[in-house]
Amino acid sequence: MRKIHKAILPVAGLGTRFLPATKVIPKEMLPVVDKPLIQYALEEAVNADIKEFIFITRHDKGSIENHFHKAIELEKELSTSGKQHLLDSINILSSDNISIQSVIQEKPLGLGHAVLCAKEAIGDEYFAVILPDDLINDGNRGCLRQMINVYEQRHNSIIAVENISPDDTDKYGIVSIDAMDRSTGRILNIVEKPKPEEAPSTLAVVGRYILSPQIFTFLEQTEKGAGGEIQLTDAISMLLNHEQVLAYEFEGKRYDCGSKLGYLQANVEYGLKDPELNKEFSDYLSKLTGN
Ligand code: UTP
Repeated sequence: MRKIHKAILPVAGLGTRFLPATKVIPKEMLPVVDKPLIQYALEEAVNADIKEFIFITRHDKGSIENHFHKAIELEKELSTSGKQHLLDSINILSSDNISIQSVIQEKPLGLGHAVLCAKEAIGDEYFAVILPDDLINDGNRGCLRQMINVYEQRHNSIIAVENISPDDTDKYGIVSIDAMDRSTGRILNIVEKPKPEEAPSTLAVVGRYILSPQIFTFLEQTEKGAGGEIQLTDAISMLLNHEQVLAYEFEGKRYDCGSKLGYLQANVEYGLKDPELNKEFSDYLSKLTGN
């Protein structure tokens, strides 16, 4: 059976919603509590047994790759001072355990274009795409692991979806499905950012995909769509005419860390779950809100 070995992480966007913070620091390096978004994304993939990563990046975003390089001096220092848990936190994804290849996207032409940049690196196998600004907590092994479990049974492309408020359809790709079971359905139609009155449903595409390599053929034919960008959604819409593509309603909670509100919500909820912070932080929040 064809296993999923590789994941694409598109990180070449401009992160304009987080300016001025993202003028120099990439959005994917912003921390939720004490860990950057990119590290949560890689940990989720490693939990799904993926060890090969392709970063689609920009020339000025080198800190994302640097984060996974060995830090010899720092490691020595933490080791001699006996700070093993901190040592583990920086070593968990060192280059000994995973491989990272970077491909430069010269211009941010859109998510579809970013994925197309990985064509050579992927070759002819099914692969995952993770958008690090969608942080997903399922309290278990992660959303991607859930999706790979479905892939191992069905051998199709799979897109993670979430039921959203009808007012928000113009922020997402929206699918209509033919339900197969409680969480999985065959996608009949997919459209990028439809107005609420035109949306085929309230099932929104979120940042986790397992895709057939056939998608590259359609990405090469995809022209600029919504927002003047080359949209992955438009290529998936073409793929639908040739292959079955599934929507999977994942278990867990997603935080849209590409938006300020979602990012703040993630920090509050992850802060409340942090064993070191939990007590003092929840006391602080109770006082602040008068509860
Ligand atoms: P977003 O549209 O959410 O990210 O793209 P952005 O463009 O960086 O952010 P804003 O809207 O200006 O604040 C979703 C993901 O796709 C990547 C982004 O880095 C992000 O991870 N992306 C987007 C690319 O890699 N290349 C692109 O051309 C566009």
